[in-house]
Amino acid sequence: MRFSALHLLAFFAVPVTVSACEGDCIVGITNAFISNYTDPVHGVLENIASQISNMLPKHPSSASSLHYLKPITDAYSKDAYDGMETAIFPNYFHGKCQQNGVDPPGCPNPDCPVVCGTPGSLVHFYGKLRYIAFNQTKHILQSLATPGSDTYQQVEQDVLNAANANMKRMSRIYAHANPYGTTPMFLKKREDDIKTNLKRILAKIPSLMERTCGGSGDGETNGLSDCSWEDPMKAYILSFP
Ligand SMILES: *[C@@H]1O[C@H](CO)[C@@H](O)[C@H](O)[C@H]1NC(C)=O
Ligand SMILES: *[C@@H]1O[C@H](CO)[C@@H](O)[C@H](O)[C@H]1NC(C)=O
Repeated sequence: MRFSALHLLAFFAVPVTVSACEGDCIVGITNAFISNYTDPVHGVLENIASQISNMLPKHPSSASSLHYLKPITDAYSKDAYDGMETAIFPNYFHGKCQQNGVDPPGCPNPDCPVVCGTPGSLVHFYGKLRYIAFNQTKHILQSLATPGSDTYQQVEQDVLNAANANMKRMSRIYAHANPYGTTPMFLKKREDDIKTNLKRILAKIPSLMERTCGGSGDGETNGLSDCSWEDPMKAYILSFP
């Protein structure tokens, strides 16, 4: 029977007491990023809400305009956790780095070719981790604001309803002034304009996220200065065994 170098290494290796990030560690780190993103995400949505308010007649208050975005914020609250956990953990940081019960050569130290899901590795590759969290947050918001999605359709309907309250009044005034007139085309045109503008405004979410976080960050260099939280986050990660 032949022993490969790997088998011999495994046989003689001194057990290393490095745990993979599992259970509480995964849940804690995922929640820490989601919670740290609360403010940036809120800031971006407030900016979007104020642009919506600006295009509507009578410029509703910022609270009302934020309310039109509720379908997006509700879906974000519901989906953010699972999306973030998947993006960080199985997708990039792979738990124990053992393959068939054996640590690959050079593992589990942080530079081993398999990116392990140990706290040390999460800290070592913090630039990558920070980028994954940013990219995930940006993408989930972008997909909820994509024309044709359920959430987009609901937001569009809310905004049109708000605009309509005002249009109906205009329509009555118009009908009164022109008792034998046909359906006022300007109202249809107005509705189309609102749809077009709303689409343009919601499409700004990814670039607003980038601006809010301080650049797109390429995962290697120190981008994302405003969504980094490097020191407290590293300390938190290392609080897991
Ligand atoms: C980010 O998360 C870390 C770890 O939970 C926490 O210590 C820090 O205060 C958070 N920062 C912000 C700005 O939320
Ligand atoms: C960004 O996130 C999306 C959605 O999760 C994913 O499909 C894409 O591969 C990510 N991009 C990078 C560069 O990680």
